[in-house]
Amino acid sequence: MYEHDVIVVGAGGAGLRAAIAAHEEGADVALVSKLHPVRSHTGAAEGGINAALRQGDSWEDHAYDTMKGSDYLGDAPAIETLCQDSPEETIQLEHWGMAFSREEDGRVSQRPFGGLSFPRTTYAGAETGHHLLHTMYQQVVKRGIQVYDEWYVSRLAVTNHDDTEERECHGVVAYDIKSGNVEGFVARNGVILTTGGLGQVYDHTTNAVANTGDGAAMAYRAGVPLEDMEFIQFHPTTLPSTGVLISEGVRGEGGILYNNEGERFMFEHGYANNVGELASRDVVARAELTEVNEGRGIEDEYVHLDMRHLGEERIIDRLENILHLAEDFEGVNALEEPMPVKPGQHYAMGGVETDENGETCISGLYAAGECACVSVHGANRLGGNALPELIVFGARAGRHAAGADFGPAKITTGKTADTELGEVETPVEPGAVDAGDGDAVADGSGTALVDPTQTVESALEAERARVEHLLEKDEGVQQAELRAKLQRSMTQNVNVFRNEEGLEQALRDIREVREEYQDVYVNDPSRTYNTDLIQTIEMRNLLDLAEAITLGALARDEFRGAHWREAHQERKDEQWLKHTLLSWNDGTPELWFKPVILEGEEKEYEPKIRSY
Ligand code: FUM
Repeated sequence: MYEHDVIVVGAGGAGLRAAIAAHEEGADVALVSKLHPVRSHTGAAEGGINAALRQGDSWEDHAYDTMKGSDYLGDAPAIETLCQDSPEETIQLEHWGMAFSREEDGRVSQRPFGGLSFPRTTYAGAETGHHLLHTMYQQVVKRGIQVYDEWYVSRLAVTNHDDTEERECHGVVAYDIKSGNVEGFVARNGVILTTGGLGQVYDHTTNAVANTGDGAAMAYRAGVPLEDMEFIQFHPTTLPSTGVLISEGVRGEGGILYNNEGERFMFEHGYANNVGELASRDVVARAELTEVNEGRGIEDEYVHLDMRHLGEERIIDRLENILHLAEDFEGVNALEEPMPVKPGQHYAMGGVETDENGETCISGLYAAGECACVSVHGANRLGGNALPELIVFGARAGRHAAGADFGPAKITTGKTADTELGEVETPVEPGAVDAGDGDAVADGSGTALVDPTQTVESALEAERARVEHLLEKDEGVQQAELRAKLQRSMTQNVNVFRNEEGLEQALRDIREVREEYQDVYVNDPSRTYNTDLIQTIEMRNLLDLAEAITLGALARDEFRGAHWREAHQERKDEQWLKHTLLSWNDGTPELWFKPVILEGEEKEYEPKIRSY
């Protein structure tokens, strides 16, 4: 058994920042990650970090843009914290040596990004995440923070009180990919989940194969609600063949979108008459797909993104990485031809419900970064707001878990007097197939557990039994087949354009795959580096999250931000200025709601018509 004060699960941007912050508070910290830290998906973030650094800009303007971008579903205290703390956190990165792009006069460069009223996106070429990851990993190494890399955390050790809000998290269980051992980790103070996105729910995504939403799914099954899961961001510019991201930085620098008639459709077809290509992502993604659906796409699939007019010197200076991606993945020389682009899954606005200190309603369990929902992005995230979220809320969660006192949180978690029960009609039963379905039961019930070590030992025993079962079974269905089926259905039915029929079909498909998963087996019998075993465990996480996304999408019968419903073409503020929450409820998902907080420090954000 391993033991530390704070255990951070996942070593991308949020995890590294949380670990550094907890260590600076004096905690003995461990980072446990299925990847080596610099292979984390934060490294694929291209565009930049929004921070109000310049004269003429202010955190208040950044907060206003973010609230508008969220289509008034972000919580003001979270948004204001993000925008207030982002400049200091960005300067901290610069002091740690991050190689930001600079102007001739030596100032850190900033560029325009979608939905921003000021060019406030700080960047390092088109490889901002890569530099951010390396900068923070150096700080982790310098501080001697213990890193368990290539350890896959597959279960949380949470006490089994019937009332989920009385539960406590005392550690995790992880599979050591190198040795094949399954071991327990006791966390004396807390566990921070920073496991990133869930893009593998879809088959066309900018996310890496490792983005399987492990932290969110484990927290959900342990009793923490998932918030606003229906809001999935589809990035407007991904390469059609692979889903590889072509940064919004291209449009920020002046790149133009054209349809097959050579029209600059963002203006010519009136999608965003003021800012065209720099409207927020949900608007641009819908515009592109409308062009394709109305016959103005290229090869009936994509549109063109042209940056040739920017000139070679500027492209090499600010977007060199994009040239390599276009050449390597599409065989396109973007200095001489436009790039083919189409929308692809990019980001989950929803996630584990937390307050602004990263705390969940289970004591000792925190979440930060993409796996969390605090909520700063609401119904649509602005480009350039993910990286500041990682560093701002990663740092806060790290400090808080290490014992720093931030006073009472402004955002409440769990059930309170303000929450109300919801209802959603489904064509099939959602949730667990039977009582032995996955790790939910062992996480949430059984014999009374209170002692931290005993709680971790019990979770360890349950996890070892699950792994043995998967390895011993020698026939059945393989995870790859199930994953492909799930991804196909989600891509077809729970995409940019949604309707009731499609959402119901997705739920039926998910149910079918859940049932088939009962018979899953691992084809590779080896103990070490068994990626088939890991992907089989991940598959269970994808199923639970896909279902949560779809249930939220079916329940929310309005059009807000990235959530478009065919039969509900307006934003319904009277009814829907509220967050959806979904509790696993020991296998029988329960839907409930809590109001959005529009009351900021000094002003109330009044919902307005959102146009760009
Ligand atoms: O387009 C991009 O470079 C992505 C940035 C982001 O998602 O914030």
